[in-house]
Amino acid sequence: MNILGIETSCDETAAALVRDGHQVLSNVVFSQIPLHVKYGGVVPEIASRAHVEKIGEVIKEAIVDKIDAVAVTWGPGLSPALIVGLNAAKGLAKALGVELIAVNHIEAHLHTPFLDSSLLPEEAMPALALAVSGGHTTWIDMPRYTQYHIIGQTLDDAAGEAFDKAAKLLDLGYPGGPKIDKIAKEYLARPDYKRSDLISFPKGRAREGVSSLSGLSADLCVSFSGLKTALLRYVQQSGGAKKLSDDGEIPRIVTSYQEAIIEALCDRTARALKKRDYRSLIVGGGVSLNSRLRDSLQRVADRANVKLLTALPKYCGDNAAMIAALAYYRRNRSGQEAMSLDVNPSLEAGE
Ligand code: KG4
Ligand code: ZN
Repeated sequence: MNILGIETSCDETAAALVRDGHQVLSNVVFSQIPLHVKYGGVVPEIASRAHVEKIGEVIKEAIVDKIDAVAVTWGPGLSPALIVGLNAAKGLAKALGVELIAVNHIEAHLHTPFLDSSLLPEEAMPALALAVSGGHTTWIDMPRYTQYHIIGQTLDDAAGEAFDKAAKLLDLGYPGGPKIDKIAKEYLARPDYKRSDLISFPKGRAREGVSSLSGLSADLCVSFSGLKTALLRYVQQSGGAKKLSDDGEIPRIVTSYQEAIIEALCDRTARALKKRDYRSLIVGGGVSLNSRLRDSLQRVADRANVKLLTALPKYCGDNAAMIAALAYYRRNRSGQEAMSLDVNPSLEAGE
């Protein structure tokens, strides 16, 4: 069964054709990043306009074989951006006379390790899943495939957001994650690198009272606001970003900052893995591209004797292959019901 996926939840206009939930026949992604760079983040109205301009072309390029169904992201994401994809998907499904399947964006990120892989999702269960993107940092217990229980999350910024905000503060550009990843990688590979040279930033501890508001235990939650404030204070006390850059201090700072985020993510993951006898650790989302995070999570998985499942780098960021692939396993959410759907910008994983 060939499913055409459409994704426009944020700043990527994407369409892809996927066979039977695994085999990617086409994967077209138009990134709007250059349009948003000068604002230091995604501007919803600009994103929406750019989606409208590109969506037809992107879909056309992705149609490389027959289409048996159309799938689309209906949330979470930016409302004006989501609407563009949903309308295109409705129109296409109607014109072709095929079913329309609505897909949750976060859930789709968790399906990415199965793209271009013959491993069946059910064979990876029970799994602990970690969704780490620009909008989400969430730990999810998956007893069976497509069953989700949120057991931990960030209480403020998502990990990707924490990367992006630090990069903005240090004038490194947008998006910050890849920039910080690269600088830190070079710093960590220096022959004179010493862990004791790193700045001791807060490690994302979540306050018990705040986590209990969402019914979650603090030991499986993170909070990056203290880390962000500590960085801001450090930069201010050191004479500003320009001075730090002139002094060649940026690599040491961003590496320390990245280590604090990774330590927080790995610590909560290790704790969550102890709660149940898991078979695998699934990690999806843009931040899972981070090379240091991947290595660290591999060690966490080895210690817990579970298999780490991550996506190929081309499927880590936002794409429509993940939407089309998950839709194959979500076909029960289709038909008339999906046709009358509105976008749901604040959808939670698994809803
Ligand atoms: O999943 P994604 O493409 O979009 C969302 O659904 O949010 O994730 C984008 C986020 C951005 O915050 C970006 O800075 C971060 O992923 N990111 C990274 C890396 N590549 C992208 N963060 C850390 N290291 C990277 N290599
Ligand atoms: Zn995403």
